[in-house]
Amino acid sequence: MTQHLAAPSTGTSDDTPGHRTGWWQDAVIYQVYPRSFADGNGDGMGDLAGVTARLPYLRDLGVDAVWLSPFYASPQADAGYDVADYRAIDPMFGTLLDADALIREAHGLGLRIIVDLVPNHSSDQHEWFKRALAEGPGSPLRERYHFRPGKGADGELPPNDWESIFGGPAWTRTTDPDGTPGEWYLHLFAPEQPDFNWEHPAVADEFRSILRFWLDMGVDGFRVDVAHGLVKAEGLPDLGAHDQLKLLGNDVMPFFDQDGVHAIYRSWRTILDEYPGDRILVAEAWTPTVERTANYVRPDEMHQAFNFQYLSTDWDAAELRKVVDSSLAAMRPVGAPATWVLSNHDVTRHSTRFANPPGLGTQIRTAGDRELGLRRARAATLLMLALPGSAYVYQGEELGLPDVTDLPDEARQDPSFFRAEGQDGFRDGCRVPIPWTREGSSYGFGDGGSWLPQPAGWGEMSVEAQTGSDGSTLELYRAAIAARREHLGLGAGTDVEWLDAPEGVLALGRPGFVCTVNTTGAPVRMAVPGTPLIASTPVTADGDTFELPADTTVWWTV
Ligand code: GLC
Repeated sequence: MTQHLAAPSTGTSDDTPGHRTGWWQDAVIYQVYPRSFADGNGDGMGDLAGVTARLPYLRDLGVDAVWLSPFYASPQADAGYDVADYRAIDPMFGTLLDADALIREAHGLGLRIIVDLVPNHSSDQHEWFKRALAEGPGSPLRERYHFRPGKGADGELPPNDWESIFGGPAWTRTTDPDGTPGEWYLHLFAPEQPDFNWEHPAVADEFRSILRFWLDMGVDGFRVDVAHGLVKAEGLPDLGAHDQLKLLGNDVMPFFDQDGVHAIYRSWRTILDEYPGDRILVAEAWTPTVERTANYVRPDEMHQAFNFQYLSTDWDAAELRKVVDSSLAAMRPVGAPATWVLSNHDVTRHSTRFANPPGLGTQIRTAGDRELGLRRARAATLLMLALPGSAYVYQGEELGLPDVTDLPDEARQDPSFFRAEGQDGFRDGCRVPIPWTREGSSYGFGDGGSWLPQPAGWGEMSVEAQTGSDGSTLELYRAAIAARREHLGLGAGTDVEWLDAPEGVLALGRPGFVCTVNTTGAPVRMAVPGTPLIASTPVTADGDTFELPADTTVWWTV
């Protein structure tokens, strides 16, 4: 497909090469999951035209940038994280012209656009992989992936003991062109997602070219998928007698967080720096510690990395304080902003996470106490938005949506759901299309239903129902994002001050500002720190003291 595009749109403000506005240092970045945001053509699947039409909503929400999960040509074995052509839009999402329109429109509204880049693996329908298979062993294209002979007398065993993150072995055996069983190939995720061999220069060249393609289209940055996975340990060594599931995220693995990945990001950074405006790289890097996460955002590498330690923290004052401190401390030496995130398309929405007992992790299958979950989620959001650095909001959390925990099995599409013993498997619950209107086909998502069923009552949580409604979660987000930026500058800086507070309560000081957070299930009486500005549940200050309700955050100006 060749489409002729007009001159690229390049950034929203100062486009002088070399000029660094640093917009991302304190940005609120909104994640759009294109399948589930808005459906422009009524086929039940969200698309780029749908996103473009709803951009004014995001401007009004007050966010600085929009990160879009993948919309590239893909057989959708992993909802688009299996890319067949990195320079084409999947027809289900639109065309390159739609992408161009989206980027221009966003820039016109003062919003930046960050796209998802998936460099660890391609789709098995990528041209290179299809040819590698068709040409058989010895094909030079096989060297761009990890093909290996199997172990055992007839090569019937996988080359090593690595397991797929989605469950089952990380290797699949191929069939040779003559029909006999052949080599195996590595896939850390689904079998339809073969891992690239990043030692091969053609792979590195191709991704530098893909970066330029999208930078030329005018995007403001890339969220780099599985940034910790590109380089594998020399010789692909066995993991040995370890429980891989326990090690994941807790240790450096032969396939995750290898030091070799950093050279790749240094080379990418030089490309971004050639472009006008202020383009950024954001790492999706699940590492054992915030200190190792900081390696990805050294001054000549990426700009930001997701803070998954924060996302994984339970609703507990002491734990939250610890992770805030360690995150800020880890980022300070490298000069990168800390980032904060509570939800994304891979984990249980935080309103449902906090509706369940602590210690269950980020893949939760039960609805829990929904009222409590929402109350805590609102409080958690106000804490997040009071912290210095950049905050990520996942579509629908501003509506207080819960995870949909009772999707029927036949509706589920998450590939890990179908692979036994995967660590995930229930990610569809946070991907249900969001409600825009109280009534109507798919609650305003589109005119043609919704690719995952929306629960009854979804319309009551819609944008329409919450807009202008005093105390709604949507209005809470709008007020907090506006205050954070316009009046308080809360995203700036690298420090917080912890003020004295009763057990289970946090009192966080910033210049001219205090944020009080009660993570306990009971009200706590404490001294009034200032003038109340925003509260996640209503509070009244009566004299010198006030009662901070259970599971509540209040912002004060001082
Ligand atoms: C990342 C994505 C996730 C995807 C996986 C494989 O973790 O966020 O959705 O399944 O990578 O690409």
